[in-house]
Amino acid sequence: MKFTLNQQEVEIQGVSPETPLLYVLRNDMQLNGPKFGCGLGECGACAVLIDGKVARSCSVPVSVVQGMKVTTLEGLSQDATQAEHARVARDWEAAHPAAVPGMPAGKPAADAPVKAVYRLHPVQQAFIDEQAAQCGYCTNGMVMALVALFDHKPTATDEEVTQALSGHLCRCGTHVEIMRAAARARVLIAQGGAA
Ligand code: FES
Repeated sequence: MKFTLNQQEVEIQGVSPETPLLYVLRNDMQLNGPKFGCGLGECGACAVLIDGKVARSCSVPVSVVQGMKVTTLEGLSQDATQAEHARVARDWEAAHPAAVPGMPAGKPAADAPVKAVYRLHPVQQAFIDEQAAQCGYCTNGMVMALVALFDHKPTATDEEVTQALSGHLCRCGTHVEIMRAAARARVLIAQGGAA
């Protein structure tokens, strides 16, 4: 079976055609953005985009996506350009001056500004900016549903956002922050991308 996964052609062998797409993504492709929640198509944690439409990968046999485009959470962000990497390195060195003048400051630590290394999708950036996750289990589905919605209609209203997210369950009660993130994503998209 061949399909396009996060902008790259992939070929899957040795997997039953009935295997849920979610299992292939997580177990064979090591993509852990989509989560296993209910396994029954009811919670939304496993959401991915199939040809741009949000779908529950636990309930889609992998054979269905033959020849199609699958996008996971990992496929939403892009590698930064060389220039962006250089800027991150400069910023990091400025914030971490060498202990010995003239010596290199060393490689970036865990606190390096990851935000600048990857160009996040505006929806991802908005979730970070609004701290719209508590346990984070539903976040994948919420983000993918909003990406599908805003790709289709960048000016989607709060009501349309609520409708798009209605089948995605959040047990922590982070709905207020998620709605704020959606509103922020709308602004970032109108501005032409993430900050
Ligand atoms: Fe797929 Fe719940 S794990 S909808």
